[in-house]
Amino acid sequence: MFGCPLTPTNTFARASETTLPSGSEPMKPTVNICDGCCCGRVNKSNLAVPKDELKTLWREHELSKHVNLRVTSCLGPCSHANVTLVSTKEGRTWLGGIASEDHYHTLVDWAQNIAVNGPNHPLPDSLLALEFTPD
Ligand code: FES
Repeated sequence: MFGCPLTPTNTFARASETTLPSGSEPMKPTVNICDGCCCGRVNKSNLAVPKDELKTLWREHELSKHVNLRVTSCLGPCSHANVTLVSTKEGRTWLGGIASEDHYHTLVDWAQNIAVNGPNHPLPDSLLALEFTPD
């Protein structure tokens, strides 16, 4: 679709290969929401990322105790814009083609469920329908 002028790093691949020292707490889930050269760019026909609203909701619901929220620059697979990468102890889930604010709100709902039910609460089907495997 659109080329990305940035060369993404392989940070996430390396991070998944890291093993926790014994006795460490399981990793806190992390939501990486791309707001890069393609994701969130309305001039490229992509939905603007509601980053301020997401940060406000995360703060209001004290979700950062349970799920990290990061708004990032390009994550790499721009052709799937808008992209979000969810990392849990189970692995990484790439979500692409986010074209509705409802999907972002569903991420907030999921994080609230993590806060109540624990880190194994699964992503809802409405988000898993957006899952893709990067090239
Ligand atoms: S801008 Fe490249 S993956 Fe989002």
